[in-house]
Amino acid sequence: MASKTEIQNVIDSTDIVSLVSEYVKLDKQGKNYKGLCPFHHEDTPSFIVSPEKKYAKCFGCGNGGNPIDFLIKIENIDFNTALHKLAKKNGIKLSDSGFKEKANPLMKYYQIMNTSLAFYQKYLENTKEGLEALEYMHKRGLDDETIRMFGIGLAPSNHDSLYQVLKDAGYLELDMIDVALVDKGQFGYYDLFTKRIMFPIKNEIGNVIGYSGRIFNNTDKNQPKYVNSRETILFKKHDVLYNLNLAKSEIQKKKRVILHEGQMDVIASFRSGLKEAICTMGTALSIDQINVLKKYTNHAIICYDNDKAGINASLKAIELFQKAGFLVHLVLLPEGIKDADEFVLSKGSEEYVKYFESNIVDSYTYIFNQAFINKNLNDSEAVLQIKNQIFEMIYISKTKTNEELYLNKLSEKLNCSFDAIYSDYVSYCNINHREKTVEEYNENNYNYFENYSPKNIKKETFLSPCEMRLFMYARASKEKALFIDRMLIDRIEAMSSSAQRLWIALINTYYENFDEFEEGKFVKILDTENFQYYCKIVELLSKDKVPYSDEDLNDCLEKLKRNKIDIDNDELNDRIKRTDDISKRVLSVEMKFKNIKKKEKLVEQTRRK
Ligand code: UTP
Ligand code: MN
Repeated sequence: MASKTEIQNVIDSTDIVSLVSEYVKLDKQGKNYKGLCPFHHEDTPSFIVSPEKKYAKCFGCGNGGNPIDFLIKIENIDFNTALHKLAKKNGIKLSDSGFKEKANPLMKYYQIMNTSLAFYQKYLENTKEGLEALEYMHKRGLDDETIRMFGIGLAPSNHDSLYQVLKDAGYLELDMIDVALVDKGQFGYYDLFTKRIMFPIKNEIGNVIGYSGRIFNNTDKNQPKYVNSRETILFKKHDVLYNLNLAKSEIQKKKRVILHEGQMDVIASFRSGLKEAICTMGTALSIDQINVLKKYTNHAIICYDNDKAGINASLKAIELFQKAGFLVHLVLLPEGIKDADEFVLSKGSEEYVKYFESNIVDSYTYIFNQAFINKNLNDSEAVLQIKNQIFEMIYISKTKTNEELYLNKLSEKLNCSFDAIYSDYVSYCNINHREKTVEEYNENNYNYFENYSPKNIKKETFLSPCEMRLFMYARASKEKALFIDRMLIDRIEAMSSSAQRLWIALINTYYENFDEFEEGKFVKILDTENFQYYCKIVELLSKDKVPYSDEDLNDCLEKLKRNKIDIDNDELNDRIKRTDDISKRVLSVEMKFKNIKKKEKLVEQTRRK
């Protein structure tokens, strides 16, 4: 065990700003540095690094501490491993130098992946089949340096070459199956990738976690163009970003990330000098991926394929990025050019970069322009589509300037008066964005619970329908939630204990960190008990037919007040029964009487309303 002074020495010698910067994008703020907390999701930075006091701590979730605490949490390692890592970094020798880092349970999987990578690369370089694949890649503009840089290899056409190599290297069949390189069939083990150009997919720190394999001289037209590894213990499609390992420093330097649709486009950008390019793995962009990116930048430039699918995917990505607080720009490639890769191949890198840099538009301009693509302005159905799309964009942007600017542009384009467009916009909003009823609200929010069966929750934990409806109102906005919370101060005990627990999670944890309610985010912070209770509430709410109104909210709060009185009176009854002290009994009876009067008054008031 290291001594106290040794530990302090390691802490003192650590440059905490550069340590944390490896994981979090920091901005200087006075003496300290500030960034988005890597331990919980947040939109405004509350993660503070103090070089003077040697701490890195989140004032939202409380995680972090001195450099060792930080490393323990962020790398998910134990105290000793963190201490020795930092000591090594700072060139400090510790007294227990015999310390061995605890084996990473994923290590064997990474080793299998590395062995496969070396094999695929060697197979590409040294075989006749490899020559054919190389020729194909050269034709597509990939030079040998790029091929090596991206670790591109070739899977042989033979059905079990990789299996044999891995077996000879001493790996277990079960482990090969776990990382989705090999499978077992009727006739034994076989490779999952054959006769494909292999693009290794690496995680943020450069370990191979999966592959994307492309056909190259295919005669069988039924084969998919790309086959990606299935989900494995290493490969999680929803948070992996192709090329992030190479791009991350450039992303930080240029303060922007370029998002493409496919890996060939990423490589095309990269070799043209736009090294901050990445893509998802044949899946739509997810919020998890955005959270990964948030550590490096908050500015995204989307450059998807120049087709309908690409435009639709762009619109979805814009929304996600904006919700996450990103500045979003887009590049629409010129007509007739499908993607970045095609651009570079046909016109060269220089021309591509020139085009790219001078055609970056903001998301509103992009949405506005693309709404008119392939639309006939003499067709009233087409015009309706254009209007709906642009109205929606204006509504979402929630600014008056955008409203005026784009309604004006639209009236010019459609050749009609501003007043006519404005009145259409108002009716669009009335139809599509009026306040939703409870039923509609729940229809949209129910799918988080498809795997959950609420049967195992006891009925008696539910006090009243008004209690659960309060949660529904509290989901509408932070403002409403805090208002209800203030009203609940003197009557929170009127809620069941489960409801109280959940309420505290909602107010004190969730709304402390987020300004808007999003069910997906909320359920993530709940423990099992709260989660089950919340599921039950959502289930009951879906059957609740009461329309959403301020009146009903007041009603719920009033009912809770009455409940509280009933609870108090039950307790008073109990006291009256238990005590022999005459004066105490009188006091209790008096209080009970007052309570009954109070309740009668409340009931009377509600009736008058
Ligand atoms: P594209 O079809 O746009 O391919 O798919 P591409 O990038 O232009 O590829 P090349 O230029 O023909 O080689 C974009 C991305 O979608 C995923 C891959 O990740 C690909 O890079 N994809 C595509 C698949 O996963 N499977 C497929 O069959 C096709
Ligand atoms: Mn392409």
